[in-house]
Amino acid sequence: MEHKRYKQEINITESLMNRINELLSHYPADKKKSALLPVLHEVQDAHDNWLSYDLMDKVAEILEILPIEVYEVVTFYTMFNQKPIGKYMFEFCQTSCCCLNGAENLMDYTSEKLGIKMGETTADGMFTIAGVECLGACGYAPMMQLGDFYKEHLNEEKIDQLIEDCKANKIILHDK
Ligand code: FES
Repeated sequence: MEHKRYKQEINITESLMNRINELLSHYPADKKKSALLPVLHEVQDAHDNWLSYDLMDKVAEILEILPIEVYEVVTFYTMFNQKPIGKYMFEFCQTSCCCLNGAENLMDYTSEKLGIKMGETTADGMFTIAGVECLGACGYAPMMQLGDFYKEHLNEEKIDQLIEDCKANKIILHDK
């Protein structure tokens, strides 16, 4: 677990709170913790795709649980980011099928092309690259997740095109 406390502006808007309350309505009133995962997704989506400790503390307050109960979930799942990330996050699957089909070479290629190591973000805040565990699309290896979408059967040409499309603002990140 990283111990650096990154600063983040917390903005629990009325519409976000309405969405959280809607999620909570699916669970017993005394079991708010059950809504932790969907609530974290909503809160992260509304905060530039990352969760600071202060924001995690706010989630704990809303769900009436201990902050540590939020930290232990956020630090376990790679879909939750604990520090500011780039606008475009390339999450490469680094599990067996993808590795057997060249994922490591593609990660190295992307790393060199963007001038950052895995887990880092470009200085302009545009790109973050990360390795994650199997994303369940093994038959389309090698693949990555970009926003809500999968990019499959990757090769160097497709990476080049993706980077160009991101820079040209042509990439849709969310399906809602
Ligand atoms: Fe890459 Fe399953 S091994 S999606």
